[in-house]
Amino acid sequence: MKFFIDTANVEEIRRAAACGIISGVTTNPSLIAKEGRDYATVLKEITEIVDGPISGEVEATTTDAEGMIREGREIAAIHKNMVVKIPMTEEGLIACHTLSQEGIKVNVTLIFSANQALLAARAGAAYVSPFLGRLDDISYPGIDLVRTIEEIFMNYNLNCEVICASVRNPIHITDCALAGADIATVPYKVLKQMMLHPLTDAGIEKFAADYQKVFGKE
Ligand code: E4P
Repeated sequence: MKFFIDTANVEEIRRAAACGIISGVTTNPSLIAKEGRDYATVLKEITEIVDGPISGEVEATTTDAEGMIREGREIAAIHKNMVVKIPMTEEGLIACHTLSQEGIKVNVTLIFSANQALLAARAGAAYVSPFLGRLDDISYPGIDLVRTIEEIFMNYNLNCEVICASVRNPIHITDCALAGADIATVPYKVLKQMMLHPLTDAGIEKFAADYQKVFGKE
């Protein structure tokens, strides 16, 4: 399973990229709004840090296919690695189909059912993003959706990658990997949690203490 980082914070992207663990980036309108910076400038900066698929979403207030297609072309023009993120609606599917026909990669987002994922893949999406955490929030196990989508996509050999989104904790990551997901897009905070283990910390402390006892170095 590959990791994307789910953030529009350039410093977080730089840190994760330096570890060599991320293959791409996803952003969304909430993450962009959190940074309070010019959208196109942020996306351009991200393309200079990560050489992989970078999802930039059409404006949250754009709901018609024509508008999404226009904005999608602008996003795609920023860099060859840009992927246009489009919400799962009927208008979104029309936009997805048109942009895909033009060779522009589309990530259909806000996927909450297997049928939505299947429709998006048929409309030409390169990626679908099922939202685990938000399903968990309403007491439906999000990981079940990931498993179902993976099974359906395998049945038909669909050329569409599954990005597990709305990832909230390290258990989500292990579950996604077990489900055979292609990609998990992970907030920086969760990537950091994945690196940690109390026994690793205890081990580092013990090695340092033993070493200092003999060599006396601080
Ligand atoms: C990524 O593609 C999604 O926009 C993101 O993972 C949503 O996460 P959230 O449900 O924690 O806001």
